[in-house]
Amino acid sequence: MLRPLPDILRIDWPPTAAEPPRTAEDAVARAVEVLRQGGLVAIPTETVYGLAANALDEEAVAGIFRAKGRPASNPLIVHVADIAMARSLAGAWPATADAVATRFWPGPVTVVVPRGPRVPDIVTAGGSTVALRCPDHPLARRLIAEAGMPLAAPSANRSEAVSPTTAHHVLAGLGNRIDLILDGGPCRRGIESTVVDCTVSPPRILRPGPLSRDDLEAAVGGPVEWPAAAAGDSGEPVRSPGRQARHYAPKTPLEMPVEPARRVAQLVAEGRRIGWLTSRTDDPQVRSLAGSRNLMIVPMPESPDEFACRIYAMLHGLDQRGLDRIVVDPPPDTEPWRAVRDRLARAARVPE
Ligand code: TXA
Ligand code: MG
Repeated sequence: MLRPLPDILRIDWPPTAAEPPRTAEDAVARAVEVLRQGGLVAIPTETVYGLAANALDEEAVAGIFRAKGRPASNPLIVHVADIAMARSLAGAWPATADAVATRFWPGPVTVVVPRGPRVPDIVTAGGSTVALRCPDHPLARRLIAEAGMPLAAPSANRSEAVSPTTAHHVLAGLGNRIDLILDGGPCRRGIESTVVDCTVSPPRILRPGPLSRDDLEAAVGGPVEWPAAAAGDSGEPVRSPGRQARHYAPKTPLEMPVEPARRVAQLVAEGRRIGWLTSRTDDPQVRSLAGSRNLMIVPMPESPDEFACRIYAMLHGLDQRGLDRIVVDPPPDTEPWRAVRDRLARAARVPE
Protein backbone atom coordinates (compact mmCIF):
# COMPACT_ATOMS: atom_id res chain seq x y z
CA MET A 1 0.00 0.00 0.00
CA LEU A 2 3.02 2.29 0.43
CA ARG A 3 4.02 4.07 -2.75
CA PRO A 4 6.99 6.18 -3.79
CA LEU A 5 6.85 9.68 -2.31
CA PRO A 6 4.53 11.91 -4.34
CA ASP A 7 5.73 14.85 -6.39
CA ILE A 8 4.97 18.22 -4.86
CA LEU A 9 4.01 20.65 -7.59
CA ARG A 10 4.60 24.09 -6.19
CA ILE A 11 2.64 27.04 -7.52
CA ASP A 12 3.66 30.53 -6.46
CA TRP A 13 1.26 33.35 -6.63
CA PRO A 14 0.14 36.11 -4.34
CA PRO A 15 -2.64 34.80 -2.09
CA THR A 16 -4.85 37.70 -3.12
CA ALA A 17 -4.61 36.97 -6.84
CA ALA A 18 -7.92 35.84 -8.29
CA GLU A 19 -6.35 33.53 -10.86
CA PRO A 20 -3.45 31.10 -10.66
CA PRO A 21 -0.46 32.14 -12.80
CA ARG A 22 0.18 30.49 -16.18
CA THR A 23 2.79 28.26 -14.61
CA ALA A 24 -0.03 26.53 -12.73
CA GLU A 25 -1.43 25.09 -15.96
CA ASP A 26 0.95 22.12 -16.09
CA ALA A 27 0.39 21.30 -12.45
CA VAL A 28 -3.37 21.42 -12.82
CA ALA A 29 -3.21 19.28 -15.98
CA ARG A 30 -1.17 16.67 -14.15
CA ALA A 31 -3.55 16.66 -11.20
CA VAL A 32 -6.54 16.26 -13.53
CA GLU A 33 -4.82 13.28 -15.12
CA VAL A 34 -4.23 11.62 -11.74
CA LEU A 35 -7.84 12.25 -10.68
CA ARG A 36 -9.23 10.82 -13.94
CA GLN A 37 -7.25 7.66 -13.31
CA GLY A 38 -8.76 7.31 -9.85
CA GLY A 39 -5.72 8.62 -7.95
CA LEU A 40 -5.39 10.80 -4.85
CA VAL A 41 -4.26 14.42 -5.01
CA ALA A 42 -3.70 16.68 -2.00
CA ILE A 43 -5.04 20.13 -2.77
CA PRO A 44 -4.80 23.51 -1.07
CA THR A 45 -7.98 25.17 0.15
CA GLU A 46 -8.39 28.32 2.22
CA THR A 47 -9.13 26.23 5.35
CA VAL A 48 -6.80 23.21 5.37
CA TYR A 49 -5.31 20.95 2.69
CA GLY A 50 -7.74 18.34 1.38
CA LEU A 51 -7.07 14.83 0.08
CA ALA A 52 -9.06 14.75 -3.15
CA ALA A 53 -10.45 12.02 -5.39
CA ASN A 54 -13.20 11.91 -7.99
CA ALA A 55 -16.34 11.92 -5.83
CA LEU A 56 -18.24 9.90 -8.44
CA ASP A 57 -15.67 7.08 -8.54
CA GLU A 58 -16.26 4.64 -5.67
CA GLU A 59 -12.90 2.96 -6.01
CA ALA A 60 -11.07 6.26 -5.91
CA VAL A 61 -13.01 7.37 -2.84
CA ALA A 62 -12.23 4.05 -1.15
CA GLY A 63 -8.58 5.02 -1.63
CA ILE A 64 -9.12 8.14 0.48
CA PHE A 65 -10.45 6.08 3.38
CA ARG A 66 -7.48 3.70 3.12
CA ALA A 67 -4.87 6.44 2.90
CA LYS A 68 -6.29 8.25 5.93
CA GLY A 69 -7.15 5.16 7.98
CA ARG A 70 -10.59 6.73 8.24
CA PRO A 71 -13.56 4.69 9.47
CA ALA A 72 -16.08 4.01 6.70
CA SER A 73 -18.79 5.47 8.97
CA ASN A 74 -17.41 9.01 8.64
CA PRO A 75 -18.79 10.72 5.49
CA LEU A 76 -16.75 13.03 3.25
CA ILE A 77 -17.27 16.59 2.08
CA VAL A 78 -17.69 16.94 -1.68
CA HIS A 79 -16.00 20.00 -3.18
CA VAL A 80 -17.74 21.72 -6.06
CA ALA A 81 -16.94 24.49 -8.52
CA ASP A 82 -20.16 26.41 -7.93
CA ILE A 83 -23.80 26.23 -6.85
CA ALA A 84 -24.83 24.59 -10.15
CA MET A 85 -22.49 21.66 -9.50
CA ALA A 86 -23.73 21.47 -5.90
CA ARG A 87 -27.33 21.26 -7.05
CA SER A 88 -26.45 18.48 -9.48
CA LEU A 89 -25.39 16.36 -6.50
CA ALA A 90 -28.24 17.26 -4.15
CA GLY A 91 -31.59 15.46 -3.96
CA ALA A 92 -33.14 18.78 -2.94
CA TRP A 93 -31.67 22.23 -2.51
CA PRO A 94 -33.15 23.83 0.61
CA ALA A 95 -33.63 27.60 0.66
CA THR A 96 -31.30 27.85 3.65
CA ALA A 97 -28.50 26.05 1.76
CA ASP A 98 -29.07 28.39 -1.16
CA ALA A 99 -28.86 31.45 1.08
CA VAL A 100 -25.64 30.26 2.74
CA ALA A 101 -23.98 29.22 -0.52
CA THR A 102 -25.05 32.37 -2.36
CA ARG A 103 -23.69 34.57 0.41
CA PHE A 104 -20.47 32.73 1.31
CA TRP A 105 -19.27 30.55 -1.59
CA PRO A 106 -16.55 30.25 -2.49
CA GLY A 107 -15.77 30.15 1.19
CA PRO A 108 -15.21 28.23 4.43
CA VAL A 109 -18.70 26.82 4.95
CA THR A 110 -20.07 23.36 4.14
CA VAL A 111 -23.80 22.76 3.67
CA VAL A 112 -25.37 19.39 4.43
CA VAL A 113 -28.33 18.75 2.10
CA PRO A 114 -30.37 15.74 0.93
CA ARG A 115 -28.23 13.50 -1.22
CA GLY A 116 -28.89 13.07 -4.93
CA PRO A 117 -28.67 9.76 -6.82
CA ARG A 118 -25.28 10.50 -8.44
CA VAL A 119 -23.44 10.47 -5.13
CA PRO A 120 -22.02 7.03 -4.27
CA ASP A 121 -22.84 5.46 -0.89
CA ILE A 122 -19.23 5.42 0.17
CA VAL A 123 -19.06 9.24 0.10
CA THR A 124 -21.99 9.72 2.48
CA ALA A 125 -21.20 6.65 4.60
CA GLY A 126 -24.54 5.29 3.42
CA GLY A 127 -26.43 8.30 4.78
CA SER A 128 -29.24 10.18 3.08
CA THR A 129 -27.44 13.54 3.12
CA VAL A 130 -24.36 14.92 1.43
CA ALA A 131 -21.97 17.66 2.60
CA LEU A 132 -21.02 20.18 -0.11
CA ARG A 133 -18.52 23.01 -0.19
CA CYS A 134 -17.04 25.35 -2.77
CA PRO A 135 -13.52 26.16 -1.55
CA ASP A 136 -12.09 29.66 -1.83
CA HIS A 137 -8.73 28.82 -3.32
CA PRO A 138 -8.15 29.64 -6.98
CA LEU A 139 -6.10 26.51 -7.55
CA ALA A 140 -8.72 24.21 -6.08
CA ARG A 141 -11.46 25.85 -8.08
CA ARG A 142 -9.46 25.71 -11.28
CA LEU A 143 -8.79 22.05 -10.67
CA ILE A 144 -12.45 21.18 -10.06
CA ALA A 145 -13.53 23.15 -13.12
CA GLU A 146 -10.91 21.61 -15.42
CA ALA A 147 -11.43 18.12 -14.12
CA GLY A 148 -15.16 18.68 -14.61
CA MET A 149 -15.88 16.50 -11.60
CA PRO A 150 -16.78 17.05 -7.96
CA LEU A 151 -13.97 16.15 -5.58
CA ALA A 152 -14.50 14.25 -2.36
CA ALA A 153 -11.88 15.66 -0.02
CA PRO A 154 -11.46 15.26 3.72
CA SER A 155 -8.56 17.01 5.40
CA ALA A 156 -5.28 15.54 4.14
CA ASN A 157 -4.10 13.95 7.38
CA ARG A 158 -4.24 10.51 8.93
CA SER A 159 -7.52 10.05 10.76
CA GLU A 160 -7.61 11.87 14.14
CA ALA A 161 -4.33 13.71 13.51
CA VAL A 162 -3.93 17.47 13.19
CA SER A 163 -5.12 18.84 9.84
CA PRO A 164 -2.42 20.08 7.45
CA THR A 165 -2.09 23.74 6.58
CA THR A 166 1.00 23.39 4.35
CA ALA A 167 2.09 20.95 1.65
CA HIS A 168 4.91 19.94 3.96
CA HIS A 169 2.44 18.80 6.64
CA VAL A 170 0.70 16.66 4.01
CA LEU A 171 3.97 15.09 2.94
CA ALA A 172 4.92 14.35 6.55
CA GLY A 173 1.54 12.78 7.37
CA LEU A 174 0.50 10.97 4.21
CA GLY A 175 3.68 10.92 2.08
CA ASN A 176 3.74 7.47 0.59
CA ARG A 177 0.03 6.92 0.61
CA ILE A 178 -0.96 9.45 -2.03
CA ASP A 179 -0.13 10.25 -5.66
CA LEU A 180 0.44 13.98 -5.88
CA ILE A 181 0.52 17.16 -3.80
CA LEU A 182 -0.41 20.56 -5.21
CA ASP A 183 1.39 23.16 -3.13
CA GLY A 184 -0.59 26.39 -3.14
CA GLY A 185 1.14 27.87 -0.08
CA PRO A 186 -0.03 28.02 3.55
CA CYS A 187 -3.79 27.99 4.13
CA ARG A 188 -5.26 31.40 4.85
CA ARG A 189 -7.90 30.35 7.40
CA GLY A 190 -6.10 27.47 9.07
CA ILE A 191 -9.04 25.56 10.53
CA GLU A 192 -11.74 23.47 8.89
CA SER A 193 -14.94 24.90 7.44
CA THR A 194 -18.10 25.54 9.42
CA VAL A 195 -20.49 22.64 8.72
CA VAL A 196 -24.20 23.51 8.73
CA ASP A 197 -27.02 21.01 8.41
CA CYS A 198 -29.62 22.52 6.08
CA THR A 199 -31.89 19.45 6.11
CA VAL A 200 -33.42 20.56 9.41
CA SER A 201 -35.34 23.67 10.31
CA PRO A 202 -33.88 25.81 11.70
CA PRO A 203 -30.49 24.83 10.28
CA ARG A 204 -27.96 23.47 12.77
CA ILE A 205 -24.23 23.98 13.04
CA LEU A 206 -22.57 20.56 13.18
CA ARG A 207 -19.01 21.87 13.38
CA PRO A 208 -18.04 25.44 14.32
CA GLY A 209 -15.55 27.02 11.94
CA PRO A 210 -14.34 30.27 10.40
CA LEU A 211 -17.88 31.50 9.69
CA SER A 212 -19.79 32.21 12.88
CA ARG A 213 -23.37 31.57 13.82
CA ASP A 214 -24.05 35.31 13.42
CA ASP A 215 -22.70 35.18 9.86
CA LEU A 216 -25.01 32.27 9.06
CA GLU A 217 -28.05 33.80 10.73
CA ALA A 218 -27.58 36.99 8.75
CA ALA A 219 -27.44 34.97 5.53
CA VAL A 220 -30.50 32.79 6.17
CA GLY A 221 -32.46 35.63 7.77
CA GLY A 222 -33.46 33.52 10.78
CA PRO A 223 -32.13 31.44 13.64
CA VAL A 224 -29.34 28.89 13.27
CA GLU A 225 -28.90 26.42 16.10
CA TRP A 226 -26.02 24.81 17.86
CA PRO A 227 -26.39 21.09 18.45
CA ALA A 228 -28.32 20.32 21.64
CA ALA A 229 -25.58 18.07 22.96
CA ALA A 230 -22.02 19.24 23.56
CA ALA A 231 -19.34 18.06 21.14
CA GLY A 232 -18.57 14.43 21.61
CA ASP A 233 -21.55 13.65 23.79
CA SER A 234 -23.26 10.46 22.80
CA GLY A 235 -26.96 9.87 22.70
CA GLU A 236 -27.68 10.91 19.15
CA PRO A 237 -26.52 9.31 15.93
CA VAL A 238 -23.22 10.66 14.71
CA ARG A 239 -24.41 13.26 12.23
CA SER A 240 -21.04 14.91 11.94
CA PRO A 241 -18.49 12.44 13.13
CA GLY A 242 -15.97 15.29 13.29
CA ARG A 243 -17.78 15.84 16.56
CA GLN A 244 -16.43 12.63 17.98
CA ALA A 245 -14.37 13.26 21.06
CA ARG A 246 -10.82 12.75 19.94
CA HIS A 247 -9.86 14.48 16.76
CA TYR A 248 -7.33 16.97 15.51
CA ALA A 249 -4.84 15.78 18.13
CA PRO A 250 -1.06 16.09 18.03
CA LYS A 251 0.98 13.03 19.09
CA THR A 252 2.32 14.93 22.08
CA PRO A 253 -0.30 15.04 24.88
CA LEU A 254 -1.97 18.46 24.97
CA GLU A 255 -3.50 20.21 27.97
CA MET A 256 -5.65 23.32 28.24
CA PRO A 257 -5.55 23.97 32.01
CA VAL A 258 -7.64 26.62 33.74
CA GLU A 259 -4.53 28.07 35.36
CA PRO A 260 -1.88 27.55 32.71
CA ALA A 261 0.98 29.38 34.46
CA ARG A 262 0.56 27.27 37.57
CA ARG A 263 0.35 24.08 35.58
CA VAL A 264 3.40 24.95 33.51
CA ALA A 265 5.38 25.77 36.67
CA GLN A 266 4.38 22.41 38.10
CA LEU A 267 5.33 20.46 34.97
CA VAL A 268 8.63 22.32 34.69
CA ALA A 269 9.37 21.52 38.34
CA GLU A 270 8.77 17.84 37.54
CA GLY A 271 11.48 18.12 34.91
CA ARG A 272 9.18 17.73 31.90
CA ARG A 273 9.84 19.20 28.49
CA ILE A 274 7.03 21.63 27.78
CA GLY A 275 5.81 23.68 24.82
CA TRP A 276 3.50 26.47 25.99
CA LEU A 277 1.25 28.29 23.53
CA THR A 278 0.25 31.60 25.06
CA SER A 279 -0.91 35.01 23.90
CA ARG A 280 0.09 36.60 27.21
CA THR A 281 3.81 36.93 26.76
CA ASP A 282 3.83 40.24 28.68
CA ASP A 283 2.09 38.75 31.69
CA PRO A 284 4.41 38.76 34.74
CA GLN A 285 3.58 35.11 35.48
CA VAL A 286 4.59 34.11 31.98
CA ARG A 287 7.72 36.26 32.10
CA SER A 288 8.79 34.76 35.39
CA LEU A 289 8.73 31.29 33.81
CA ALA A 290 10.51 32.34 30.62
CA GLY A 291 14.00 30.91 30.50
CA SER A 292 13.07 27.86 32.60
CA ARG A 293 14.94 24.76 31.62
CA ASN A 294 12.96 22.55 29.22
CA LEU A 295 10.30 25.19 28.61
CA MET A 296 9.61 26.57 25.15
CA ILE A 297 7.19 29.51 25.12
CA VAL A 298 5.40 29.97 21.80
CA PRO A 299 3.75 33.38 21.47
CA MET A 300 0.31 33.21 19.87
CA PRO A 301 -1.74 35.97 18.21
CA GLU A 302 -4.46 37.69 20.22
CA SER A 303 -7.07 37.74 17.47
CA PRO A 304 -9.12 34.57 16.96
CA ASP A 305 -8.69 34.58 13.18
CA GLU A 306 -4.92 34.88 13.37
CA PHE A 307 -4.77 32.32 16.15
CA ALA A 308 -6.78 29.90 13.98
CA CYS A 309 -4.51 30.56 11.03
CA ARG A 310 -1.43 29.61 13.05
CA ILE A 311 -2.53 26.94 15.54
CA TYR A 312 -2.21 23.77 13.45
CA ALA A 313 1.20 24.79 12.12
CA MET A 314 2.35 25.33 15.71
CA LEU A 315 1.04 21.92 16.78
CA HIS A 316 2.72 20.22 13.81
CA GLY A 317 5.95 22.03 14.66
CA LEU A 318 5.88 21.22 18.38
CA ASP A 319 5.13 17.57 17.60
CA GLN A 320 8.60 17.34 16.01
CA ARG A 321 10.33 18.52 19.17
CA GLY A 322 10.13 15.47 21.38
CA LEU A 323 8.25 17.32 24.11
CA ASP A 324 6.44 15.64 26.99
CA ARG A 325 3.49 17.99 26.94
CA ILE A 326 1.95 20.86 25.02
CA VAL A 327 0.13 23.39 27.20
CA VAL A 328 -2.28 25.89 25.65
CA ASP A 329 -3.93 28.84 27.39
CA PRO A 330 -7.71 28.35 27.21
CA PRO A 331 -9.05 30.90 24.72
CA PRO A 332 -11.84 33.23 25.93
CA ASP A 333 -15.25 31.58 26.16
CA THR A 334 -16.76 33.92 23.59
CA GLU A 335 -18.38 33.44 20.21
CA PRO A 336 -15.40 34.52 18.04
CA TRP A 337 -13.23 31.87 19.73
CA ARG A 338 -15.76 29.07 19.47
CA ALA A 339 -14.14 27.15 16.59
CA VAL A 340 -10.66 27.39 18.06
CA ARG A 341 -11.89 26.29 21.49
CA ASP A 342 -13.70 23.36 19.88
CA ARG A 343 -10.54 22.14 18.13
CA LEU A 344 -8.33 22.57 21.20
CA ALA A 345 -10.85 20.84 23.46
CA ARG A 346 -10.80 17.81 21.16
CA ALA A 347 -7.03 17.84 20.89
CA ALA A 348 -6.86 17.84 24.69
CA ARG A 349 -9.04 14.75 25.16
CA VAL A 350 -7.39 11.52 26.03
CA PRO A 351 -7.98 8.68 23.55
CA GLU A 352 -10.99 6.55 24.39
O1 TXA B 1 -12.49 22.89 5.57
C1 TXA B 1 -12.87 21.73 5.42
O2 TXA B 1 -14.04 21.39 5.63
C2 TXA B 1 -11.83 20.71 4.95
C3 TXA B 1 -11.35 21.10 3.56
C4 TXA B 1 -10.43 20.07 2.94
O3 TXA B 1 -12.48 21.33 2.74
N1 TXA B 1 -12.39 19.39 4.95
C5 TXA B 1 -12.62 18.70 6.10
O4 TXA B 1 -13.06 17.42 5.87
O5 TXA B 1 -12.43 19.16 7.20
P1 TXA B 1 -13.14 16.31 7.01
O6 TXA B 1 -13.54 15.06 6.33
O7 TXA B 1 -11.86 16.29 7.76
O8 TXA B 1 -14.33 16.79 7.90
C6 TXA B 1 -15.63 16.76 7.35
C7 TXA B 1 -16.64 16.83 8.43
C8 TXA B 1 -16.59 15.60 9.28
O9 TXA B 1 -16.87 15.99 10.61
C9 TXA B 1 -17.72 14.77 8.71
O10 TXA B 1 -18.23 13.88 9.64
C10 TXA B 1 -18.72 15.84 8.34
O11 TXA B 1 -17.94 16.90 7.84
N2 TXA B 1 -19.65 15.38 7.31
C11 TXA B 1 -19.39 14.97 6.06
N3 TXA B 1 -20.51 14.60 5.41
C12 TXA B 1 -21.51 14.78 6.27
C13 TXA B 1 -22.94 14.59 6.21
N4 TXA B 1 -23.52 14.12 5.12
N5 TXA B 1 -23.67 14.89 7.31
C14 TXA B 1 -23.08 15.38 8.41
N6 TXA B 1 -21.76 15.58 8.54
C15 TXA B 1 -20.98 15.29 7.49
MG1 MG C 1 -10.46 16.06 9.16
